[in-house]
Amino acid sequence: MTTIDIAGSRVGRVGFGTMQLTGPRALGEPSDPGEMRRVLRTAVESGVRLIDTSGYYGPGVANRLVAEALRPYATDLLIATKIGAVRTPDGGFVAAVEPAALRAAVHDNLRTLRVERLQLVHVRNMPDAPIPYEETVGVVADLRAEGLIDSIGVSNVSVELLDQARGITEIASVENEFHLGDTSGRAVLDHATELGIPFLAFRPLGNGGVLAPDSRVAKAAATAGVAPAALALAWALEQSPGLAVIPGTSSRAHLRDNLAADAVVLDGRVRAELAGE
Ligand SMILES: NC(=O)c1ccc[n+]([C@@H]2O[C@H](COP(=O)([O-])OP(=O)(O)OC[C@H]3O[C@@H](n4cnc5c(N)ncnc54)[C@H](OP(=O)(O)O)[C@@H]3O)[C@@H](O)[C@H]2O)c1
Repeated sequence: MTTIDIAGSRVGRVGFGTMQLTGPRALGEPSDPGEMRRVLRTAVESGVRLIDTSGYYGPGVANRLVAEALRPYATDLLIATKIGAVRTPDGGFVAAVEPAALRAAVHDNLRTLRVERLQLVHVRNMPDAPIPYEETVGVVADLRAEGLIDSIGVSNVSVELLDQARGITEIASVENEFHLGDTSGRAVLDHATELGIPFLAFRPLGNGGVLAPDSRVAKAAATAGVAPAALALAWALEQSPGLAVIPGTSSRAHLRDNLAADAVVLDGRVRAELAGE
């Protein structure tokens, strides 16, 4: 698999997001936890070395499954987690960025992942946050100084917020939405690439939306003779050598399609079909 350096780890550019391992809307238990653990083990056995998770998936469920399935963790596995939000009973996300909430979230992730330090923590920018993003990043930098965190990343940020965060502390990665159905993150991707900061494209399949049977992706995939998901992810990987994708799936068959993305080479005809030309 082609690789990328993130937070001191060299990992394959196709990672794995854990949100789909929990119940609907990332709340509660999955119907078949054993199968979710098999999906995780298959991912790592197939070469995935980047896992994106959060204590608020479940809450606590995704991290618990990761620990159950993957401990003892491979020494070259990078587990990235996220803080800055908590869940509402209806599945929504609200800001939780007061210093005590950030500290609690770090300890919650340490406990549920069963690790002594968090390798990479993405600080999620929340539109309803009552305090400025850079202050939140400053609090997380203090938690790193205490030895609880190795590296800090930013998530859901603009170019301006990325630069503000860089003024506070070293930023190891950016995690933003980016896929064929939403390229509004292009400016942040380009800025991060110029700075040499890896960009983790979250929701890289548009939560499945880019794969509809009558979509451009489905048609172009038929032309290319590959699975639609593999093509959609390959397109994302082509946008920058500094980009990794973290597709989420609860299915081992889908996982195989997603991992195949790394070997898909787009030609002019397929690119034109994806562009709707
Ligand atoms: N930082 C943030 O704010 C943020 C926000 C959202 C997500 N994330 C991260 O990004 C990860 C990915 O996002 P996501 O899970 O929301 O969306 P996604 O990866 O774009 O798409 C997941 C959806 O696509 C389906 N799928 C996956 N692989 C497929 C394949 N090969 N063929 C057909 N369908 C496939 C999944 O269903 P099946 O289970 O049936 O495969 C699921 O419905 C999350 O797990 C999470 O780690 C981060």
